[in-house]
Amino acid sequence: MKLHAIAIFFCYLLSFLCCQVKGDSCDTYNHPQYGFGQCIHQNDCPNSLYLTGFCESQPSNIQCCFSLEPIKEEFRAIWIATVNNIDWPSSKTITPYQQQTELIHILNTVQRLNMNAVIFQIRPAGDAFYASTLEPWSFYLTGTHGVAPSPLWDPLTFIISEAHKRNIEVHAWLNPYRARMTGATYELASNHMAKRFPKYAYPYDNHIWMDPGSVEVQQFTLNVTDDIVRRYNVDAIHIDDYFYPYSDGTEFPDEATYVAYQQQGGLLNKSYWRRSNVNTLIEAMYTRMHIIRPKVKFGVSPFGIWRSGVPAGISGLSSYDSLYCDSRMWLEQGLVDYMAPQLYWPIDPPAQSYPVLLNWWINQSTKGRHVYAGNAAYKMAQGAVQYEAREIARQVNVTRSMRDRLALGNIYFSTKDIMNNIKGIQTVLAELYKQKAMIPKMNWL
Ligand SMILES: *[C@@H]1O[C@H](CO)[C@@H](O)[C@H](O)[C@H]1NC(C)=O
Ligand SMILES: *[C@@H]1O[C@H](CO)[C@@H](O)[C@H](O)[C@H]1NC(C)=O
Ligand SMILES: *[C@@H]1O[C@H](CO)[C@@H](O)[C@H](O)[C@H]1NC(C)=O
Ligand SMILES: *[C@@H]1O[C@H](CO)[C@@H](O)[C@H](O)[C@H]1NC(C)=O
Repeated sequence: MKLHAIAIFFCYLLSFLCCQVKGDSCDTYNHPQYGFGQCIHQNDCPNSLYLTGFCESQPSNIQCCFSLEPIKEEFRAIWIATVNNIDWPSSKTITPYQQQTELIHILNTVQRLNMNAVIFQIRPAGDAFYASTLEPWSFYLTGTHGVAPSPLWDPLTFIISEAHKRNIEVHAWLNPYRARMTGATYELASNHMAKRFPKYAYPYDNHIWMDPGSVEVQQFTLNVTDDIVRRYNVDAIHIDDYFYPYSDGTEFPDEATYVAYQQQGGLLNKSYWRRSNVNTLIEAMYTRMHIIRPKVKFGVSPFGIWRSGVPAGISGLSSYDSLYCDSRMWLEQGLVDYMAPQLYWPIDPPAQSYPVLLNWWINQSTKGRHVYAGNAAYKMAQGAVQYEAREIARQVNVTRSMRDRLALGNIYFSTKDIMNNIKGIQTVLAELYKQKAMIPKMNWL
């Protein structure tokens, strides 16, 4: 009797352990349609990427989540904005050593969060965060436009070396036309593009903006890009959403350039001509950088709405009409290696719905170029309706649900929101990025 009870107890214990072990170790699953895959905990199932199934092993009724493979390749990046000292350096008057320490701190955080790229702004306004013979040192680095850091150092060389040690890519972010930021009043150095080409440097909306229609301005920007690709081991060149400036309600003062174009026989009307000016730069940039270094990538992160009303139900600023940015064409024709539309809106409201826009963008990538969504981490801390950190997690999940259609990662704007751990975002990212992932491969390069 006693023995019997012990035996029963033992059996019970054994079967309990068995079930537990089987349940937890249900790590492969032979899916009728997809074959063998990995079983993962149900809490780790991001939407439709994973299929729910039953373990083959006993007990057969333990449900698990099935993944063809864990996410091995995913682009996970932050924008490091230097203009106005948004993200880095925190101040233009601290020492180079302090600036370097801040940069290391950022890279260590990126590494710790299992992210794999930084988009580093090296030319916010015709200036340089690297040693250049073409352009002056940035005001935001040293406090005086055109004055080198002392002791001398090269932030671009530094970040490339420190990032690559940590398996982090560096995408060099350039602004092609902005010559001085809105509100800035510093004296321009004599070799600045606005001084080289004063005829094409316009005060506009408290900025100084170079004329995208000027062939000299285009050639100069191309020379700057060529120089960077030649001398620095950057993984990519990146341009954001600024083409023709956001309107201040007045006409951009390029009438003389347009008239000169017409006098040379140009037939396009002004809007089409402006777009063609930007297209010319993008195409030449793409072609020239790949001649110099075929493996360097080219990415653009345009305003998230190509045209208001496209697709149906979307409304907002039309970057095609207002900024003369035909980003859809670049994606369709493969003039970029990746497109990172700034989808700076939440999932639910329909007018700028994140999933609707992302679904539209990936659908335009007819040449198979990657799409990385830009996510507004800053909206957790700014604006009328502030995001919860959960919104960011949901957006990553939505992105992952479209990964078989080229939505291959996320870029956060901006670094300081991550560094300041706004609303505990670092915990959310650590949860999303439990394992390291490789940068998605571009087999056309
Ligand atoms: C996103 O997916 C992760 C991993 O599957 C899950 O833990 C999390 O709850 C999801 N987050 C949201 C906000 O949907
Ligand atoms: C661009 O570089 C080429 C080759 O060095 C030079 O001939 C040309 O003048 C430069 N263009 C501008 C606008 O600086
Ligand atoms: C400009 O030219 C394009 C192409 O020829 C045409 O479709 C468009 O309607 C024209 N726009 C204006 C405002 O004339
Ligand atoms: C995606 O592209 C296909 C084919 O061009 C088109 O039929 C479909 O409507 C598009 N979907 C969206 C959401 O744009």
